Amino acid sequence: MRKEQVKMSLKNTKTWSRVLVPVLLLCCVSYYYSHFFLQSLPCKTCMVVGNGFAIKNTSLGSAINKYDIVIRLNDAPVRGYEADVGNKTTMRLFYPESASYNPSIHNDPDTLMVLVPFKQQDVRWLKEILYNEKRIRKGFWKPPPEIWLGKTSHIRILDPYFLQQTASRMLHLPLNTPPKTNQIPAHPTTGILAIYVALNYCDVIHIAGFGYPESKDLKHPIHYYGYDTMKSMKNSYHNLSHEVKALKRLEDSGAVVYLHPHS
Ligand SMILES: *[C@@H]1O[C@H](CO)[C@@H](O)[C@H](O)[C@H]1NC(C)=O
Ligand SMILES: *[C@@H]1O[C@H](CO)[C@@H](O)[C@H](O)[C@H]1NC(C)=O
Ligand SMILES: *[C@@H]1O[C@H](CO)[C@@H](O)[C@H](O)[C@H]1NC(C)=O
Repeated sequence: MRKEQVKMSLKNTKTWSRVLVPVLLLCCVSYYYSHFFLQSLPCKTCMVVGNGFAIKNTSLGSAINKYDIVIRLNDAPVRGYEADVGNKTTMRLFYPESASYNPSIHNDPDTLMVLVPFKQQDVRWLKEILYNEKRIRKGFWKPPPEIWLGKTSHIRILDPYFLQQTASRMLHLPLNTPPKTNQIPAHPTTGILAIYVALNYCDVIHIAGFGYPESKDLKHPIHYYGYDTMKSMKNSYHNLSHEVKALKRLEDSGAVVYLHPHS
């Protein structure tokens, strides 16, 4: 009986080694190749330009233009603000309500326009434009452009997985509100989402124009352009305290670096 068992286990070892050796070899080979491949990839430096008032008068424009990848958000303008925000745009994250009618004004000819599908209607909006279908206006908090001049070849749609991960893993937002309330769950700002995307693809992530005014003054401007004030954030679907905490964690761990002093 014992002998049988020993024989059995020996037989097992033999089978195992028949499986294990090739697997180990394969691992070594793939490790070698991925290592080799990674070393041949250039280090990607990324700059996420937030739309915050904090970037005003920083003169960061020429520094921003030097990054391999410059990510901008929503309809933030570039022309007229070059000294502070630069004029290079590798990709711009936006959603229908934050789309500007003619993307060529404040972007480069080859800027990738990345639609963030926050809600079902957002993809429908793009489809209606691309196929020139009847525009359905329902479901937007602000009328999106009915004509949009984005170049078809430069449109991308962000995988909604990034949105889900930003909300749950980075911001720890509850993904469901208590039942029987009409409350809509808070969702990430485009800015924090852009940082999450950058964390997945970039070797170096620098940011500017993030954060909200410290002042409790509801009339304080929030963007480096236009006239939006803190008041406009009061009823937004964002949870700024979660975002402030997440940004602080990222900064403290060295994952992101601010290009300017900030509160
Ligand atoms: C920016 O600089 C201009 C010109 O020097 C000045 O008038 C303005 O108050 C400054 N704005 C901020 C926010 O510092
Ligand atoms: C940015 O500005 C510089 C200097 O004015 C100019 O040479 C360059 O073409 C501009 N780039 C873009 C993408 O607008
Ligand atoms: C943000 O989240 C905190 C903690 O989870 C919560 O107490 C607060 O009510 C939320 N604020 C908004 C505006 O949703």
